[in-house]
Amino acid sequence: MRVLVTGCAGFIGSHCCEALLRRGDVVVGIDCFDPFYERALKTRNLDVVRSVAAERFTFIEGDLLDGTSLDRAFAIGPVDRVLHLAAKVGVRPSIAQPAAYVRHNIEATTHVLAAMSAHKCDHLVFASSSSVYGDDSVAPYREDARADAPMSPYAASKRACELMCRTWHALYGTHVWGLRLFTVYGPRQRPEMAFHRFATHMARGEAVPMFGDGASSRDYTFVGDVVAGVLTAVDRVDGFRVINIGGDREIALRDAIELLGGALGVTPTIAVHPSAAGDVRRTTADLTLAGALLGYAPAVTLEAGLAEFAAWFWQHGVR
Ligand SMILES: NC(=O)c1ccc[n+]([C@@H]2O[C@H](COP(=O)([O-])OP(=O)(O)OC[C@H]3O[C@@H](n4cnc5c(N)ncnc54)[C@H](O)[C@@H]3O)[C@@H](O)[C@H]2O)c1
Repeated sequence: MRVLVTGCAGFIGSHCCEALLRRGDVVVGIDCFDPFYERALKTRNLDVVRSVAAERFTFIEGDLLDGTSLDRAFAIGPVDRVLHLAAKVGVRPSIAQPAAYVRHNIEATTHVLAAMSAHKCDHLVFASSSSVYGDDSVAPYREDARADAPMSPYAASKRACELMCRTWHALYGTHVWGLRLFTVYGPRQRPEMAFHRFATHMARGEAVPMFGDGASSRDYTFVGDVVAGVLTAVDRVDGFRVINIGGDREIALRDAIELLGGALGVTPTIAVHPSAAGDVRRTTADLTLAGALLGYAPAVTLEAGLAEFAAWFWQHGVR
């Protein structure tokens, strides 16, 4: 199968490309090296991808918004599936730059859908986010919650992407599964994300800045579990669905920092700051639908996943 992966140089994209190549698929990847974080980290991710099967991986450096990169990707040969992971990421930065999130997320997703129609490709899996649930939904979140009170431009943009995909399904019959990912962690995690940032502070002997009282909680999902869910979705996508992909359990921020310290072999000190705008207090996934459609169940405990992250961090993390 030939799979077009957008955002292939990123954290989750590089893991998905690796797994697709390992099982024998042909991968065409697009990434524009968005400056949100260092290009060198993304080129290193691509090196790992190429080390699996360079002969079945084609990389196009290009922006989904430039009007040509997607056509170049489709011109290589018929694409069976699109895995759309490219996005401007991050909840808090989206508050400072909302228009950029509209362009890179809503507009870029629309370009992906239009290119798929033009090139007669009709199966898409894309990365949505647990942030679409906002603070109004009742936890654990189910996919049929209203999800109409997003707390940040990032969350609003992801919900808008889901709706645009739903529109494409209605107009053209495009099969789309939008995976609502719940805080993903593991090797190659983005440097500004909580665990990586906290680890950087701990490695430098600095206090870990904790926003709020530490009672806010997350359903942290190991990247290997996410990849398993994504690949099954790529194989099975049919009709339109949004599906939660979550982790093994919900945990309070303060406890997660302690666990991370244990994995790194560091006793963390914590500096408490007021809660940040845009943050939701709780994210926890109902995984019933993921179980039914994808046979998905998280296989990696937070303890095991953090041990793997810590081993990677001491070798490659931002210190
Ligand atoms: N990491 C998480 O916890 C998490 C949670 C929920 C949803 N998601 C979603 O999963 C996807 C991947 O996230 P990630 O953590 O790997 O982020 P990432 O920033 O590491 O990867 C995204 C990649 O997309 C690229 N990109 C952005 N705009 C582009 C454009 N216009 N054209 C081409 N490439 C572009 C970036 O350069 C980057 O390499 C995103 O859609 C994100 O919203 C991630």
